[in-house]
Amino acid sequence: MAGCFITFEGGEGAGKSTQIDRLRRRLEQLDQQVIVTREPGGSPYAEEIRSFLLGGHAKSLGPFAEALLFAAARIDHLDTTIVPALRRGTHVLCDRFADSTRAYQGSLGNIDPALIDNLERITLKGVRPDLTFILDLPAEVGLARAGERRARKGEGADRFEEEHASFHNALRQAYLSIAQADPGRCAVINADQAPDEVEAAIWAALRERLPQLTQTMARPLDVA
Ligand code: TYD
Repeated sequence: MAGCFITFEGGEGAGKSTQIDRLRRRLEQLDQQVIVTREPGGSPYAEEIRSFLLGGHAKSLGPFAEALLFAAARIDHLDTTIVPALRRGTHVLCDRFADSTRAYQGSLGNIDPALIDNLERITLKGVRPDLTFILDLPAEVGLARAGERRARKGEGADRFEEEHASFHNALRQAYLSIAQADPGRCAVINADQAPDEVEAAIWAALRERLPQLTQTMARPLDVA
């Protein structure tokens, strides 16, 4: 496909949205076409499933049923937002994607990895991220940041944020295992540093792995 598909993953409070926004701006300055989207969500139906999932309504059904709902949202998101954008040459920056299901529902929900592999194969139909940034930081640092953000916005914890510290430590390990299993796609970024430094690390990784994105797009010549 003509556009590049880049996903951002990590635990709570890793700073994904800040970094996605910074990367979007840098790419736009180079005249690259880019959209930002998120999971669960990113299309009208998927946003409805998001409210249901993050409201905790599927929790009692168990992690496999939750994984199916995340997958259902992902199918609509791919069909209506991601694939059309990639086909028209627009790069897609996505806040969470299939690795979140593998980490949160798969590893932490003890779902057989073979089942997650199959679910991913059926859901993604061959569409895989060209690059995945895994924003890595100690769970307690991320939880403290997420707590401050919620206090600022006057929000309560969602279904996953309210899990215990041991859950978030295991989550960090799950993401590191995903990166280890797929080093060609995944770049682990140290997110326990100032936003400018994280941004620089992301840009350096992008230059190395998808150099075509970090150059100014050639503008068509003006026809006299
Ligand atoms: P969100 O508010 O977008 O959180 P964050 O800022 O941490 O990305 O909520 C998304 C939550 O849904 C987050 O806790 C991770 C969880 N999630 C899953 O458990 N499985 C999935 O497949 C996805 C996409 C998200």
